Amino acid sequence: MHHDAKQQMLAASNLDELYPVIAANLMTAGWHKKRRSLYPEPRADYQPLHWRWDHGRIALDQAGRWIGTELAERRNLLLYNPGGASGDNDYDTVRTLVVAYQMIKPGEYARSHQHTPNAMRLILDADEGCFTVVNGVKLPMRTGDFMLTPGGCWHSHYNEGKRNAYWIDVLDVPLVHRLGPMIFSESPEWNQKVESEPKEHPFYFPPTRTLPALKALAASNGVKRLKLETETAMPPLDIGMFHIAAGSTYTAPRSTASSIFAVISGRGQARIGGLSAEWTVGDVLAAPSWNAIELGASEDAVLLEVSDAPVFHKLGFYREG
Ligand SMILES: [Fe+2]
Repeated sequence: MHHDAKQQMLAASNLDELYPVIAANLMTAGWHKKRRSLYPEPRADYQPLHWRWDHGRIALDQAGRWIGTELAERRNLLLYNPGGASGDNDYDTVRTLVVAYQMIKPGEYARSHQHTPNAMRLILDADEGCFTVVNGVKLPMRTGDFMLTPGGCWHSHYNEGKRNAYWIDVLDVPLVHRLGPMIFSESPEWNQKVESEPKEHPFYFPPTRTLPALKALAASNGVKRLKLETETAMPPLDIGMFHIAAGSTYTAPRSTASSIFAVISGRGQARIGGLSAEWTVGDVLAAPSWNAIELGASEDAVLLEVSDAPVFHKLGFYREG
């Protein structure tokens, strides 16, 4: 074989004859490659986008007529970005994160499982009786609560209330897809044994914990941002809650990091790159890398931001421009 390759290379009398011979030996010419590997600035593979919760809720309620309890743990709507490097993405919301609206009906539960991706939930609408169990710790899921199920933790969700429960899921699954370390398993036991039911927990951020801390911060041009203590549990992500006073605007320059925003209260306008949108409670905004962000509040607003900035800071790839 090696002998043949040498003979074929030596037999080439010009570049066009050489290319197929070197390609057959899994080499390609750097001066002749199909795609640029270096380019002046990050590519805008993903689009800035806005999803409305009133649309998401109707779609979930409609789907709930036909998607039964056996698929309850997947009765969610993925907020996908039709961009993506291949141009046919139907999963990622931004390059590193996926966001979904999820609904479970009374009497339903999602089987206990664990996976390497980090996950978190912002509860949009839930009555008493909804809860998550994370590694044996029972945490309530009430309207406005935010909670973490960090990678590798067993988790399961229950609706023992009387009404449908709705929440927003955010996971770093696309980051795990890109880097490769996906490991997922379902518990052989459907239900997790509840070992404790604490009033406070590092993974649990009810409004009674976050809103007073947010209010206590000093505002900068009408904007406050509370960084939640999540980075030990979920190292790739920076999670913050914004308070934007009515009439004020939060601005961020374009950067190599990507974010998603979920609206907890209030309403306003967004300009993210070329996107202009009006947002209100339960809506989701995608701010892919290299898009400047402006979020203006027309009434006092609280938003959750999940950002992949720590990945870029840790690797030395964080840039603004
Ligand atoms: Fe999960």
